[in-house]
Amino acid sequence: MPSYIIEGGKRLEGEATVSGSKNASLPILAATILNNGITKLYNVPEIRDTKITQEILKFLGCKVKKSKGKIEINSKNITKKEIPEHLMHQMRSTVILAGAILARFKEVTFSYPGGCDIGSRPIDLHLSGFEKLGINIVKNAGFIVCKCDKIVGANINLDFPSVGATENIILASVFAEGETNITNAAMEPEIVDLANCLNKMGAKIEGAGTSNIKIIGVKRLNEVSYTIMPDRIEAGSLLCMTAITGGKIKLNNVILDHINPIVNKLEETGCKIVKDKSSILLEAPKKLKAVDIKTMPYPGFPTDMQSVFASILTVAKGTSIIVENIFENRYKYMSELKKMGAKITIEGRTAVIKGVRKLTGAKVLSTDLRGGAALVSAALVAKGETEITNIDYILRGYEALDEKLRKLGANIKIKEGD
Ligand code: UD1
Repeated sequence: MPSYIIEGGKRLEGEATVSGSKNASLPILAATILNNGITKLYNVPEIRDTKITQEILKFLGCKVKKSKGKIEINSKNITKKEIPEHLMHQMRSTVILAGAILARFKEVTFSYPGGCDIGSRPIDLHLSGFEKLGINIVKNAGFIVCKCDKIVGANINLDFPSVGATENIILASVFAEGETNITNAAMEPEIVDLANCLNKMGAKIEGAGTSNIKIIGVKRLNEVSYTIMPDRIEAGSLLCMTAITGGKIKLNNVILDHINPIVNKLEETGCKIVKDKSSILLEAPKKLKAVDIKTMPYPGFPTDMQSVFASILTVAKGTSIIVENIFENRYKYMSELKKMGAKITIEGRTAVIKGVRKLTGAKVLSTDLRGGAALVSAALVAKGETEITNIDYILRGYEALDEKLRKLGANIKIKEGD
């Protein structure tokens, strides 16, 4: 696998544009299965996860055409109703395709999904949602076979507002007979983007972005063009990476509401923020201040920003306390940060970070997507050279991260693996 080589100590300054959202692209790519025709998508980021999803769409029989900034998916001639095991294992959100295939064909076979090792990540809420919609599920030798004669709308209360389960149930119930009501639904902006795209295709989804979502079954969808929303986690990551270097950035293509929880915390660290319509200006102080963070479902502080934010607190003045409430195993990257001189103690879901004066470059391992981004952020300020190995994880979720950072003045290059 390739590595990043980063020479720390360069203050980031300049302008960057946020790419399309990874977590919105994935369910929307799945939604193209429902539209028995052509969907044109703009702003899908060129990253591993969207490429894997396109591979699965092609395997199913979709025609995928790419031109600059646009993906055209023709799902008219889907011939397969299973998700191949080797692709299923590459990432977690492959499970979202199951709901879409079910809605269109009333059957799907898939295995348990893979993804970053950040917790046990069960799919029980997805499957119990399917069952409530009248789908019969048989688990056999690691495979899950779902079948039904018809999908019937139901009332589904989620034990936890799972993003993936909410999306899967929405997709599965678009053509259901009658009405589906999801209560305690996830409220993340990516769910709103999925619902907006499906509604543009002709679906009837109300309440996305609240905890009560209603899906009124329709008979068919139409062809659409849709532009994916900006990636709020990439936006937050670029702001943090600039902040740790004491830098200044103008970030374009942001939806300010989506990044509010991150921006509020950056202000607490002493960063000056100026908001404009779809851009944001951040100017970092010489020394950041410690802050406490608790990750929560949206509109709380996002778990996907926990690691990158923690990395900037390793050099802040004072002690910061982080509580990770969403995934139980999301601190693996911290042992790598410690190799760079960070002072962190972990007790269950709580991490205590004592700010140090400086970090030092080291050879570190990217343990997962966002953990890897935290190491990039730390390396930008560390004294000397850092080699981050295993960056395939980072490439799964950040489009052209090295290019964007270089444009801001960072000294970062990719070393190809053996
Ligand atoms: C999505 C995001 C991920 C983000 C997460 C939480 C995508 C592609 N990924 O992941 O980046 O970190 O939301 O914001 O959009 N759970 C269950 N049973 C289930 C499903 C989930 O117990 O059937 C639990 C999980 O173990 C976890 C919590 O619910 O503790 C949240 O997971 P969920 O919201 O489902 O996350 P994902 O959809 O996997």
